[in-house]
Amino acid sequence: MSHEVVVIEGDGIGREVVPAAVEVLEALPVDFEFVKAEAGDAVQEATGEALPAETYDLAADADATLFGAAGETAADVILPLREAVDSFVNVRPAKAYPGVDAVRPETDVVFLRENTEGVYAGHEDRLSDDLSTLTRVVTSSASRELAEYACEFVEDGRGPAGDSDEGFTVAHKANVMRETDGRFREEVLAVAEERGVDADEELMDAFATKLPLDPSQYGVIVCPNLAGDVLSDLAAGLVGGLGLLPSANVGHDNALFEPVHGTAPDIAGEGIANPTAAILSAAMLLEYLGHVEEGQQVRDAVEGVLSDGPRTGDLGGGATTDEVTAAVLDRL
Ligand code: NAI
Ligand code: MG
Repeated sequence: MSHEVVVIEGDGIGREVVPAAVEVLEALPVDFEFVKAEAGDAVQEATGEALPAETYDLAADADATLFGAAGETAADVILPLREAVDSFVNVRPAKAYPGVDAVRPETDVVFLRENTEGVYAGHEDRLSDDLSTLTRVVTSSASRELAEYACEFVEDGRGPAGDSDEGFTVAHKANVMRETDGRFREEVLAVAEERGVDADEELMDAFATKLPLDPSQYGVIVCPNLAGDVLSDLAAGLVGGLGLLPSANVGHDNALFEPVHGTAPDIAGEGIANPTAAILSAAMLLEYLGHVEEGQQVRDAVEGVLSDGPRTGDLGGGATTDEVTAAVLDRL
């Protein structure tokens, strides 16, 4: 069966790292039909629209989408694209690899972040010259859906420990936001109990201290939207850099995969961007489409290259994007 994958390079280094990831996918014994689509600053300049309707529709109808990055139009591109794939969870692994100078080399965590509501639901108002407000949205249904996904994730051994006993940690601030985070906490813990999955909880502020002090005590972490955004970036800092971190926006019947980094205007066009985050995003895409073994092969190849080189400048090396990609392909 052939998988239809929409490929959106976007702007800046998206145009360098996404082709590298596609090359890796093409080297595997998996049948893909790649459909290229446009989004970002360049299309905005040319057409007045950062996300053409055609791109939105292609992503909505595809089996999966691989996206690079958009520049100043990032929010106008990525938020609707997440909606196009009907994404309810943002999956963000942060793992320190051998050979990479990480603040906390023992870090190996995966954030499962609620991706539709919370304070990002878009209900902000300017009520007067002096006063602006924000309405936070938390539903039982979205909280339970995230928790069901977290339970499956853990049951399938997809967490860092690879072990269905590992359970997950829910981070929240229900002691202050009693109604909204209270609902979130209650529903997530209820689903875990119904499914017999171990779940413990942390207040998110205390968690922000405990994670950098001892990341080894955490594995899968379930968060509301804003908390997941901030805390997963914190974890990114522990593992040594943006060029390494992949992510997935998973929906019911569709998903979008993207490196966490942006367009890197300071190095764009030089051919020296680190393709690791994009290639690891492609590995997540493979796993999502059921090609778990191939996904693991890609991870192993990437890990080998990170540990033995060649490495790009962000990791202290002098290699180009193409040289790193070729080394990954060699190992595959
Ligand atoms: P950035 O991630 O583009 O760059 C931050 C720093 O990390 C830069 O020094 C860059 O050179 C370096 N870096 C990032 N990825 C790298 C890679 N693969 N290899 C080597 N070095 C890498 O974030 P910044 O500078 O805050 O944003 C630049 C532009 O990207 C902005 O226009 C922003 O709106 C956009 N952006 C888009 C995102 C998206 O499309 N999802 C996410 C974040 C930013
Ligand atoms: Mg963020």
